[in-house]
Amino acid sequence: MTIRLAVLLSGGGTTLQNILDHIAAGTLDAEVVCVVSSRADAYGLERARKAGIPSLTVLRKECTSAEEFDRRIWDSVHEHRADLTVLAGFMSKLSIPGPNANRVMNVHPALIPAFCGQGMYGHHVHEAVLKYGAKLTGATVHFVDNEYDHGPIILQAAVPVLDKDTPDTLADRVQAAEREIYPQAIQYFAEGRIEVCNRLVRIRH
Ligand code: GAR
Repeated sequence: MTIRLAVLLSGGGTTLQNILDHIAAGTLDAEVVCVVSSRADAYGLERARKAGIPSLTVLRKECTSAEEFDRRIWDSVHEHRADLTVLAGFMSKLSIPGPNANRVMNVHPALIPAFCGQGMYGHHVHEAVLKYGAKLTGATVHFVDNEYDHGPIILQAAVPVLDKDTPDTLADRVQAAEREIYPQAIQYFAEGRIEVCNRLVRIRH
């Protein structure tokens, strides 16, 4: 089944682009039906425009409350009848309403539960991994719940940390892993193969 994706982003949109590239290559049975950005200057909005995808910007500071911010985003997702909401470098706190449990995915640039939680995003994660001296990091795709980087883990890929790594070189290798496992997890969802029991995810064969 071709599933309808809502993509939420705040930045460059390389994650959105990777999803669009997989759809174009026929390796992801999905359609991006809307893009919502929490920043007006996100380059991801330009990528959406080029791909002819309807987009919307919702700025937290223009909302009177966190509830209004959440409501405006979910109204857009529901209006476009998205089956799955994909966080793609979305850097604002979003509450997940009950009916959307296990219908919102995120990719985190580390092996959850290490190097995650509030304030751990983008380059902060890679800096923390290098500072701690971890020898292994990676990427995690998980369902999103109402705690930071906490929901059921769908896929993980490990990436070695090299002595000569800088946050940028490490980010490049971790993002290469993200580009593999995020479309894979979305494809499993499209195929109806993801089973969640408590917080344990099984991929049906
Ligand atoms: C993603 O690649 C991911 O590593 C990170 O933001 C990047 C977004 O890049 N996500 C997180 O840190 C989530 N906690 P993009 O804006 O170019 O898609």
